[in-house]
Amino acid sequence: MPRNTVARIDTAALRHNYRLACRLAHPARPMAVIKADGYGHGIRDMARALADEAPKFAVACIEEALAIREAGVGHPVVLLQGVHSANDLVTCAREGFEVVVHSDYQLNWLEQSAEIPTLWLKVNTGMNRLGFAPAMLPAVMTGLKSRALEQKLVGFVTHFACADDPSSGFTDQQTRVFTEAVVDWPLLAKSAGNSAAHFLPGQPLFDWSRPGIMLYGASPMLERTGPELGLEPVMTLEAQLTAVRVLKPGESVGYGCSWRAGHETRMGIVAIGYGDGYPRHAGTDTPAWIAGSRIRLIGRVSMDMLAVDLTEAPGASEGDTVELWGRHVSVDEVARCAGTIAYELLTGITARVPRLYDNPGATAG
Ligand SMILES: Cc1ncc(COP(=O)(O)O)c(C=O)c1O
Repeated sequence: MPRNTVARIDTAALRHNYRLACRLAHPARPMAVIKADGYGHGIRDMARALADEAPKFAVACIEEALAIREAGVGHPVVLLQGVHSANDLVTCAREGFEVVVHSDYQLNWLEQSAEIPTLWLKVNTGMNRLGFAPAMLPAVMTGLKSRALEQKLVGFVTHFACADDPSSGFTDQQTRVFTEAVVDWPLLAKSAGNSAAHFLPGQPLFDWSRPGIMLYGASPMLERTGPELGLEPVMTLEAQLTAVRVLKPGESVGYGCSWRAGHETRMGIVAIGYGDGYPRHAGTDTPAWIAGSRIRLIGRVSMDMLAVDLTEAPGASEGDTVELWGRHVSVDEVARCAGTIAYELLTGITARVPRLYDNPGATAG
């Protein structure tokens, strides 16, 4: 018998979220960001599930773009970090990968490459990770022209640092800097806008937005959950209750005896832990769900197990399915309890957990 610790993936929810991104981005078009193994959901299946809807995909690196081709999906794929080796430029040109150029060394590689892929230039408007400063753009554009590379350039990209916080003025500032930086090349496309920017009223997303986390149903905004924003969770993380016991007042459970029963407590052990990617920092009171009831974690998460208080679910018994996150408990809530973000939880589910596609499972409904 398998352990039944699984991540159920609902591709209809993914498509629902992509369509919401389209409505919010209009007239910009969203390229679907499916890097980091589709934010933990499986890049090949995410590419196939969105192939009829998304005109373009975005990933971090060439290995991820090649995985999309392995899935039989031939769409353009933007490499958000560009290439990490000169040799990859020819592969990119042949495979239809669009390469973001953010540094001088990449311009030098292009000069020497036998084949040139489609190019985007990254503009650093304040994130200060990658990209050319706005003041450098005229020289970079002149350099591209002199190397006859400019006909491969389709546009400019930038990335927002604080779009998750509607009270921040920084997104407006970056938008202004970006608009002014590229004003001399109006025929080239512009791409800005992570998921969060889709939820900022009046925020321009230019020609191409780049939603990631919202496609998977988690919230890109501080203090909000995905469902509050009209998003549907794509991943439901489930495991089985493998033991039920009653603790007497004063008895503890798990490593460090960090939680003790104040009164007689019926509790259960669930077959999932940090070895599966469930966060160890999710402490007592982190929500979970079983048999129609919300329950809470107690004590420390171990590698393969965690403990739950079954007081609110008196009918729960061994073999029942526990939802760690999904439709009844949002991954955003769990992330908050663990002092992290849904991005980290979703991408952190380990290879030990099988992904089951479009199989509703026991906690659906
Ligand atoms: C350059 C770039 N664009 C878009 C995204 C998508 O961001 P999000 O998942 O917040 O929508 C990312 C993600 O990190 C990114 O690095």
